[in-house]
Amino acid sequence: MKNKRVAVSIIAGVLAGIGIAAMLLISLPSDSDSKDNSVDAPVAQTNETANPSKSVADTNEAESVQSTMIDIKNYAYTPVTVTVKVGDKVTWTNQDSMRHDVVMDDDSAEGPNSELLAKGESYSYTFTKAGTYEYHCSPHPYMKATVVVEE
Ligand code: CO
Repeated sequence: MKNKRVAVSIIAGVLAGIGIAAMLLISLPSDSDSKDNSVDAPVAQTNETANPSKSVADTNEAESVQSTMIDIKNYAYTPVTVTVKVGDKVTWTNQDSMRHDVVMDDDSAEGPNSELLAKGESYSYTFTKAGTYEYHCSPHPYMKATVVVEE
């Protein structure tokens, strides 16, 4: 009888222990979500899950950014008008022996402004604001073109 009662109390104790352990396990994930500064193990768990999701976000961002190429050839920008999205990069490459540049018509406005480009040289600008950007070549003001940047 005595042994049986001891056995029952041990089993009860083990079950209670399992119950407490289970409650702790259930409560841990919510603790890791709410307490980023916690010094406990959940911090490492948070960092592990944060890194993969960050790299996925980086990949998506890289895929969505477009790079548009404009040739400077025969004293003209080709295509003469391009339409891009905010965050997109535009690259001008001079194919002429004559040096050309890319300068905003309104020189006080934000936008592309390059040095003179020798043959084969490129200049890139990433548009961060929507708008219509009219530009020209400073040695040849008749060389005019437009970049339209949409949201
Ligand atoms: Co020019």
